[in-house]
Amino acid sequence: MKTEQFDASKQSLVKAAQLLNNQEVVAFPTETVYGLGADATSEVAVSKIFKAKGRPADNPLIVHVHHPSQIKHYVTEISTMAQTLIDHFMPGPFTIILKSNGTVADTVTAGLDTVAIRVPDHKIGRALIQEANLPLAAPSANLSGKPSPTTAEHVYQDLNGRIAGIIDGGATGVGLESTVVDATGDIPVILRPGGVTKQEIEDVAGTVELTGSLKEKQPKSPGMKYNHYEPDAPLVLIDGDQIFFQKHINSYQQEGKKVGVIASKPLVNLLQADISYSCGNRDDLSEVATNLYYALRYFNDTNVDIILAETYPQVGIGDAIMNRLTKAATHHHIQNRNI
Ligand code: TXA
Ligand code: MG
Repeated sequence: MKTEQFDASKQSLVKAAQLLNNQEVVAFPTETVYGLGADATSEVAVSKIFKAKGRPADNPLIVHVHHPSQIKHYVTEISTMAQTLIDHFMPGPFTIILKSNGTVADTVTAGLDTVAIRVPDHKIGRALIQEANLPLAAPSANLSGKPSPTTAEHVYQDLNGRIAGIIDGGATGVGLESTVVDATGDIPVILRPGGVTKQEIEDVAGTVELTGSLKEKQPKSPGMKYNHYEPDAPLVLIDGDQIFFQKHINSYQQEGKKVGVIASKPLVNLLQADISYSCGNRDDLSEVATNLYYALRYFNDTNVDIILAETYPQVGIGDAIMNRLTKAATHHHIQNRNI
């Protein structure tokens, strides 16, 4: 399949919207990461998303609409608590889970009786949804298991030849995916930390639960049980100061390994590795979030044998950063003791 590359002009959006109406799959920018969109009411279109990504069929998709007023068309009811969340966080990096009324294709919800809905806070993303006049089912536009794409180039690397089109809207802003919140019960439950922090949700909704641990046998959010965000080389998280971090670099190098480092300033400038990537200032965790997936993908074009990454405090967006880093490092120890 030839993958058409679109700019963000009106003319391009019209063409991309036509593809979507012909049950094709098109990647588009949002403020979090690039999404891979298809008509959420069409089984045929949605099945192409799963095929292009190599995504397991039991992992449901988020439905993207252009305005919060559209949510009611896909759900059975919106509680007062859910409406409060919608009013405060949508549009934005926030996904709400409500009881589905069955309008979207069964493959979108993977057979669950709930549906996840998001209104992206991105001009191009919303313009596309409006032009297509469809609800768009859209997971992150990466091959399953890889870091999510924050540029059109990342999408191209993963999905060229597998999808009908890519709209280039430049680099995304938040850099990590939306916060997924189950609003079907009495209190909001965070199934995946993301762009909106737990504190921000607590400020408007009172008590909030944070769940979605990888260890849960039956995760509420089915996507939580799969490997995610993995760079080509193994990733190890290093919990410790400069001396401790440098010791680990040296020890891998003594084994003959080429070592890559992902760290923030000032630490990144103090460490000596084979290749280092700075993901911003440690005192600005939103900058670290913006650059994190870029950093994980950066090393795919290098010959490093192992990547060592700094850890961050789990406050604010640090929750989401550590959630993604921990998963990206699956099967590799988080080293927090001396060698
Ligand atoms: O920022 C984002 O959320 C991006 C952009 C493109 O909007 N999308 C995204 O989609 O990250 P995806 O498919 O990579 O992640 C969706 C997550 C998965 O963990 C999935 O299991 C969960 O949302 N999910 C979707 N529908 C659900 C439902 N009905 N109940 C529980 N979890 C659900
Ligand atoms: Mg994803």
